[in-house]
Parts: sequence; C-alpha cells; structure tokens
Amino acid sequence: MPQTIAVLDFGSQLTQVIARRIRECQVYSKIYHYATPAAQLKADGVVGIILSGGPQSVYAKTAPHPDVAIFKIGVPILGICYGVQLMGHFLGGKVAHSKAREYGLGQLTIRKPGKLFAGLPRTLKIWNSHGDKLTALPPGFVATAVSDNSAFSGIEDKKRGFYGIQFHPEVFHTERGVDMIRNFLVGICGAAQDWTTKDFIAHSVADIRAKVGKGRVLLGLSGGVDSSVAAALLHKAIGKQLTCVFVDNGLLRKGEREYVEALYKRNFKIDLRVVDASSLFLRRLKGITDPEQKRKIIGRTFVEVFEQSLKSIKGRAEFLGQGTLYPDVIESVSIAGNPASLIKTHHNVGGLPARMKLKLIEPLRELFKDEVRHVGAALGLPKEVVWRQPFPGPGLGVRVMGSITAENLEILRNADAVLQEEMMASGYYWKVWQSFAVFLPVKTVGVFGDERTYDFVIALRIVESIDAMTADWAKLPHDLLQKISSRITNEVRGVSRVVLDISSKPPATIEWE
Ligand code: XMP
Repeated sequence: MPQTIAVLDFGSQLTQVIARRIRECQVYSKIYHYATPAAQLKADGVVGIILSGGPQSVYAKTAPHPDVAIFKIGVPILGICYGVQLMGHFLGGKVAHSKAREYGLGQLTIRKPGKLFAGLPRTLKIWNSHGDKLTALPPGFVATAVSDNSAFSGIEDKKRGFYGIQFHPEVFHTERGVDMIRNFLVGICGAAQDWTTKDFIAHSVADIRAKVGKGRVLLGLSGGVDSSVAAALLHKAIGKQLTCVFVDNGLLRKGEREYVEALYKRNFKIDLRVVDASSLFLRRLKGITDPEQKRKIIGRTFVEVFEQSLKSIKGRAEFLGQGTLYPDVIESVSIAGNPASLIKTHHNVGGLPARMKLKLIEPLRELFKDEVRHVGAALGLPKEVVWRQPFPGPGLGVRVMGSITAENLEILRNADAVLQEEMMASGYYWKVWQSFAVFLPVKTVGVFGDERTYDFVIALRIVESIDAMTADWAKLPHDLLQKISSRITNEVRGVSRVVLDISSKPPATIEWE
C-alpha cells in the first residue's frame, strides 16, 4: 500500500478537491470521517493528517469535532480554514467571530516561510472563505503569515509538526497553493511520491489476483469510461477469468454495439457476451410518453435482462465487477446538507450482487475520474473511450421526446451521428461537456428540391460544464453549426428542420427528459 495522507472531512465542499490536489502531487490520500478514532488512523499507518474546511463555527452545538487524540499520534497535521480554528480551539488558542467576513481574493504576506511556505514569494494572492478567525495563538505556535484581515493567516508549531492556514490552498485562485500542499506532504510529512498510474496498476493487478484466485468475474460493460477501464484492468489481471456482458437495449447510438464488440472482443480478446434485448425494451416502451415512466421501464428491464444473462453464463462465478469510483464511495457523513458528502448508489444494479450471491469487486473505488482516464490510457484504451463524453444509462430513451419507436430512434441516431462526426472533425467534441441530438415529435413544413416536405425537428444540445451540476450552452462557431444543420437536413431522411437549444442549466437540465 502506498503511504497515505488522511484528509478528515469536516463538511467543506472542497474536501474532495484537497484529496485530488494531494494525489496530483503523486501522494496517496484518503478522505476519512471527521471523528475517525486516532487509533484507526495510526493503524492505517497515515503519515500526515489534513483537517479540511467546514461550514460551521467550532463553537456551534452541532460543530463536527475530531478525536482529540489525533494531536498525540505524532504525525504532522495541517489545518485548513475550519481546520486551523479546530487547532486553535483544541490546543489552547482563541477563536472568535470576525467582524468582517473574509470572502474571496485577498493578499497573503509571508513573514516566516518555514517549511510550509518554502520556496514561495513573500506575497501571494489567496482565496478566503471564513467568518470565524483565530485571535490568539495556542502555546507553542508562532504566526508565519498575515492577510489583510488576519494576523494569523499562517501559523506553525515546528516542534510538533502542526501547521495551519486560514485560506484555501486547494483552489486555483490561491497562487502556488499546490506548492504549499506539496511542501506539507513531502517537506514536512516526508511522504514518498509513489502514487503513479503505473504503480496503481501494478498494486491493483496483484490485489485483484489475490482476491479472485481461480474464481470468475462477471462485469456489465456499458461502453462508458468507468466500466471500460474496469474491464481493461480486470482483464489485465485475470484474463480469461473475466466475462463481460453488454446489453443492447435498442437505445444505443449509431454503431455503438459494433464498436464495443470490435474493441473488446477483437482487440482486447475479452470474453464478451452481447445480449440483444432491443425488441424487449422497445415492446415495453411502446406508447409510453411520460419521462419518468420511460426511465423506470428502462431501468427495470435492464436489471432483469442483466440478471438473466448472468444466470445463463454463471458457471462458477463468484464475483461481480463494477466500475464504482471514489466519489461514489467516500465514507463520510452528510454535514449541513453538503452534497459532496452524500453516498450515491451506483448504477442501477443495486440489489443484484446479494440476490445472486456474488461478491463485489470494484477495482476503481480508490480513483477519481481523471485518474481513471489515465489508467485507461495506460492500459491501451483509445482516446475515444477514455475521453468520451458522458452518455446517460437510459440512452436515447431520454432523447426521443414522446413515443419511442424504431423509426424515431433511427432518425435520431442518424442525426446524432452527423453531429458527432462534425464535432470530432472540428475538435470541439473534446472541448465541450456533451454534444448530442434530441428528437422532437413535431412535424414542420420544409422544401426539399421542388417538393414540399412535412417532417420532424431535431434539436442540438451542446453544453459546457465542469461537473454537470450547472451548464451553459456552448457558443460554437456559426459556420460549424451551419454545416451540422445543413448536413442533417440534407442527409437524414425524416428531418426538415434543425434547432439549437440555448438554455442553460439551471433552469433547464442537460438532457431533455
Ligand atoms: P441533467 O439532464 O440532469 O444531466 O442535467 C446531468 C448529467 O447526467 C447525465 N444523465 C444521466 N446519466 N443515467 C445516467 O447514467 C441517467 O438517467 C441520466 N440522466 C442524465 C446527463 O447526460 C448529464 O451528463
């Protein structure tokens, strides 16, 4: 196991960002519940602890507090924002309500660089977000840096290896913030920078082999990034002991099934079973127009088909592989409605492993999305898979408005294929969050050659986003939009008109249903 830095989560929206920054420094980090017993951290062999920020005041009745024994373990500790106030509170300093709430950009002046600010300029832009602040240092501490609004923007107790900063080094607005984090990890904790993609793959392959032994693993392959990388990693570890199942639900994009078959069967030589359930899905969706009902039917049918197909190939299988990622499993509590801390249920195969008496194997559960992409690339997956845009589980089922019929799906598939081709050719595919076509069951008049037409409408949904929580429509060059539009109306039968969706999220969602 690589050396670990523990991040205790006190409910900040930025806790995951801290963990990522640490990993970007090639040091392994793990997010722990704020009250994790010191004995556990010690048993896990952590080499340093970071106390995250948090929305509460240390004095609040419901304020999250750590196990105070962490200050006795003997490993360095860095308190960030709320974390530094906890140090003040528990180590004998004073924390008070600040008159001026410090929020946004400020200036840091470093008075005493020490190990934390080693190699940095004396003044830096920093990003603050706090109401309370430290007003008296705990014994043993000295001030190392000041800001416009705080005499204790940086503090340290060199002897015990305790450091505190009132601002947020993990956000990009803070100049050289990552250098401060690296100084803590490497210069202060002495952590080995041994968390690289290559090391991860080696650890993980050994781990999977030890766990699986001579057993068999089944994995549902959707073609998305997570399940693709999970498949490639499992295949590297156990080869023929892995069987993948790909369900064709009839709601796939043009050429998707063929692409998946070619890549995994022929290229990777993975034992891939393609289950064609498209007629079952389409039969069940016939005449359904309500979006929620569509989703329910698709979800339920998927679980049924997947379960059935696993039974038919079960043999001696003991394991069900899943592409669960770290953000899905972070052991944390929801503090003051912090959405980052909520544990999400993964995919729609929730109760399946227990029902089928399968043990779960989740080789990516330690990784963030960008780490998964790097692992995928290192395992030889093409850029088109590793960097592909998100695609919803219910597929084109949420992109055909009104009734889902084979004819409407065909029109949408063809229009979407043109859009993807042009997005790829122009390179914009890689620059936007998602780009896709939506089928509208509205007929409008057009003229094609000398003939009057009366055909359907295709909407283009092309958005920019960081995390899909909010999104804005992408301002693509007009000549590109023009080319996409004219190609769709010329090449796709059944379409007489193309419109562009210029709604942002909120209030609109990214998908139309
Ligand atoms: P919305 O439409 O809610 O979408 O703005 C946010 C992101 O989630 C994707 N999405 C889904 N993904 N199953 C999925 O796996 C779904 O049912 C689903 N609905 C939306 C959507 O493509 C976007 O990236």
